[in-house]
Amino acid sequence: DWTMEAYREEAIRKIRDQVGNKKVICALSGGVDSSVAAILLHEAIGDQLTCVFVDHGLLRLNEATEVVTMFREHYNLPLIHADESELFLGKLDGVSDPETKRKIIGGLFIDVFQKYANQIEGAEFLAQGTLYPDVIESVSFSGGPSVTIKSHHNVGGLPEKMGLKLVEPLRELFKDEVRALGRELGLPDSFIGRHPFPGPGLAIRCPGEITREKLEILRKADAVYIDQIRKHGLYDEIWQAFVAILPVRTVGVMGDGRTYDFACALRAVNSVDGMTADYYPFTHEFLGETATRIINEVKGINRVTYDVTSKPPGTIEWE
Ligand code: XMP
Repeated sequence: DWTMEAYREEAIRKIRDQVGNKKVICALSGGVDSSVAAILLHEAIGDQLTCVFVDHGLLRLNEATEVVTMFREHYNLPLIHADESELFLGKLDGVSDPETKRKIIGGLFIDVFQKYANQIEGAEFLAQGTLYPDVIESVSFSGGPSVTIKSHHNVGGLPEKMGLKLVEPLRELFKDEVRALGRELGLPDSFIGRHPFPGPGLAIRCPGEITREKLEILRKADAVYIDQIRKHGLYDEIWQAFVAILPVRTVGVMGDGRTYDFACALRAVNSVDGMTADYYPFTHEFLGETATRIINEVKGINRVTYDVTSKPPGTIEWE
């Protein structure tokens, strides 16, 4: 009789067999896959594991603190918080082309991870939260153009370059099984059910040039939007929802005065695998109430639009 509890025991045994008494490093993104992999490894080999959380300054409101606190305090897991937001935002300064943004972020991510990993003396293994579908995908697309949606988080090519061997304890699992394993390992439901978040983070939700001002406005607007979705009991009904800040200011009225502030777009979709998606049919009441809240609560935004594009022809993200 196959249970997740038995799978967990078996996975822990396999990790111990593979790793022995050697050290392992793991890039923790805050997503479900890398989190479950890290917790499982920690159970198996304890402090032989060190995780590196690369903070590129493009995370959501309070996200870095929440992830770091959960892993350090709740799981007592050795974790380096690599706060490199100055570096990333500096290199992104003045860049507006979407592909260039992605290349810069992906390249820096690898450099930064490597820098911190090199500080961990004697590390011989790199752990990754690779899932079964990733394994199939990388086989069938090997040699082809790099279009995998996770190109930046599964640090491709890095293990060989650093002379590290791979540990991939989730290689046999599908996404729903990883979630079940996460629950088995005590991860809170609120964490396991989180909407997907892209590796390049808020950079691709900020079309045009990325500025600290825009990022700050975007974080606040996104937090209000997600709060609205939760309050209406819709979070688990929706596959992914977020705000994009538009590179345009428009005129508005507030009290006796005119405003000249940013416009934003709300996005919400349902999807099975991210390859195709339908825009979510919110009620007009929900949309109106959310627009009012964002404009009242977020200084810097005076116009809210709703993106009703499905995929195809649109993508889910704006870049
Ligand atoms: P698009 O915008 O291509 O997004 O329709 C499909 C899904 O993939 C996510 N996404 C990414 N995830 N690194 C990631 O880890 C990326 O570079 C990336 N780009 C898009 C997106 O959030 C959506 O869930």
